[in-house]
Amino acid sequence: MSIKRDFYKRLSFIVMISAVIISAVAIVAERNIVLDDMKDKGDSIARMLSAVARDSMLTHDYVTMERYVMEAVNDKNIESLRIIRSDGEILAEAATKRRATAENYRLQYPIAMGESSLGTIDISFSMERVNSISKRIIISAVIFIAFVHGFALIVNNIIINKLIIIPVRSLMQATKSLRDGSLRNRIEIRSENEFGELASAFNDMAATLESNFEEIKAKQKEIFTEKGKFEAIVKSLADGLFVTNSDGLIVSFNRAAEMITGYGEKETIGLHCEDVFKTRLCEDACALHNEDKTISAKESEIITKGGKRRVVSVSSAIIRDRDGRVLGGVQTFRDITEEKHRQAMLCQAEKLAAIGHLSAGLAHEINNPIGNVVGYAKLLLRDASLNEKQRERLDIISEQAEKAGGIVQGLLNYSRRQESKMERTFINGAVESVVKVVSLQAEKSNIKIGVDLKDVPAVKADQRQMEQVLFNIILNAVQAIGSDGSVLIRTDETDDGFVEVRIEDTGPGIPEEHIHKIFDPFFTTKPVNKGTGLGLSVCMGIIREHKGFIEVESEYGKGSAFIIKLPVMEDENA
Ligand SMILES: Nc1ncnc2c1ncn2[C@@H]1O[C@H](COP(=O)(O)OP(=O)(O)OP(=O)(O)O)[C@@H](O)[C@H]1O
Ligand SMILES: [Mg+2]
Repeated sequence: MSIKRDFYKRLSFIVMISAVIISAVAIVAERNIVLDDMKDKGDSIARMLSAVARDSMLTHDYVTMERYVMEAVNDKNIESLRIIRSDGEILAEAATKRRATAENYRLQYPIAMGESSLGTIDISFSMERVNSISKRIIISAVIFIAFVHGFALIVNNIIINKLIIIPVRSLMQATKSLRDGSLRNRIEIRSENEFGELASAFNDMAATLESNFEEIKAKQKEIFTEKGKFEAIVKSLADGLFVTNSDGLIVSFNRAAEMITGYGEKETIGLHCEDVFKTRLCEDACALHNEDKTISAKESEIITKGGKRRVVSVSSAIIRDRDGRVLGGVQTFRDITEEKHRQAMLCQAEKLAAIGHLSAGLAHEINNPIGNVVGYAKLLLRDASLNEKQRERLDIISEQAEKAGGIVQGLLNYSRRQESKMERTFINGAVESVVKVVSLQAEKSNIKIGVDLKDVPAVKADQRQMEQVLFNIILNAVQAIGSDGSVLIRTDETDDGFVEVRIEDTGPGIPEEHIHKIFDPFFTTKPVNKGTGLGLSVCMGIIREHKGFIEVESEYGKGSAFIIKLPVMEDENA
């Protein structure tokens, strides 16, 4: 409800109540005055009639009595008049012709003679005059109310409007425009009353707000510039970076972090870092978990979106506000998987080189005596005088010596003392010829050998040695499966200029504790006489000589994948 209507309503109510009270008081007061007047008048008429009645009764002059009664009843206030003798007989009676009112005032006055009463004067006064005065008062009150209402309307429209409505409206308007952001608006001060003071206080407040807002805007601009610089730095960082809040939830995730983890920034924001990396990275890196210790280049690991495990080097620090309250942590991490791999390869290569050197010397020394043992055994076998038993024993000597010779040959292969014939080779051809040979044996054990060969460029390689490598690896896969399973050989070209051969099997996989040893010479899990443990180390030696890489991916219980990478032959793609 508007102030105007509210004021009008209240004023009307007050006016009405006061008019009713004043009217009631006036009516009662007026009535009492009239009644007193009537009483006085009645008393004097009654006194006069009492004297006339007494004389008339004594003189039996009833005509005079009647005349007086008639004259008295002419008074407009008297409704009826009777003179009653003490025995109850009415001696004279008169009534006005006016209509008798329901309400009247009666007066009885004695006709006394000394101590005894001769009769009574009974006068009945009409209340008409009193009622008409009351009516007049009520009409005046109604006119007064109407007048006050009219006055209130004018007061409302002119005074309230000027004093209250207009200042309040301009204050409201200014407040709304302040709310909508126009801080420059001020209120025109039109009076010196409370509204004037309010308007001036409002103007002061708006001025303070305006200057504060300008200051905030300048600071905001500064912050945006700094933020922009910070974001540019974070974005251009080669290391992955993510910022967490005090609950460990990610609030920022840079581009390098996206590249390393495979997760987009939008996917990670709001998640707990442990939910994203699913490894001990957060425990290792998150400053919040490390009781505020700054972590520097700690080795940890993450699992990428694609499910790959990556080794990372993490550093972290806690972020605090001016009062020392923890706001969150900032973590940087670098993918060192390749580095670690290269280190391991280097280590392996050094180890293999040492073993190779030793093996080469050893093989060379053993090769000649073994050659002699085989040669002499074969020579003896030509002797016709030998009996069956002797012949059998010589066969065993020759067979075992040949086997020893095979091992020595393997060692020689491994140490690469043999010449390689490097020529333009298509790896798909090598795969097909090996698969043809191994398939026969594999089919017997219900092992399916499948191929998925892309049109890959040629490599510079020794075709025979490539076949030897593929044969070793595919045979290992078939042997690992035992029965019922499959081997899939895929070739493809990588973006970094290699031809890749991937041999995947559905075998049991390689336990984690073995995976670093399988390329070591003589490491085998096969029973004695079943494997020499030289297969993979020979493969490694050959591939290394071809300037390629050989890697293994395996999870125990989930099969294995051997990956060979050979550089595309120069000028091949030109
Ligand atoms: N596909 C595979 N699945 C499971 N384990 C494998 C696989 N390939 C190799 N291995 C493991 O690696 C070991 C070493 O293999 P490597 O070829 O060097 O020697 P070997 O096969 O044991 O002996 P050899 O090759 O002389 O017959 C194997 O004994 C086996 O434990
Ligand atoms: Mg083998």
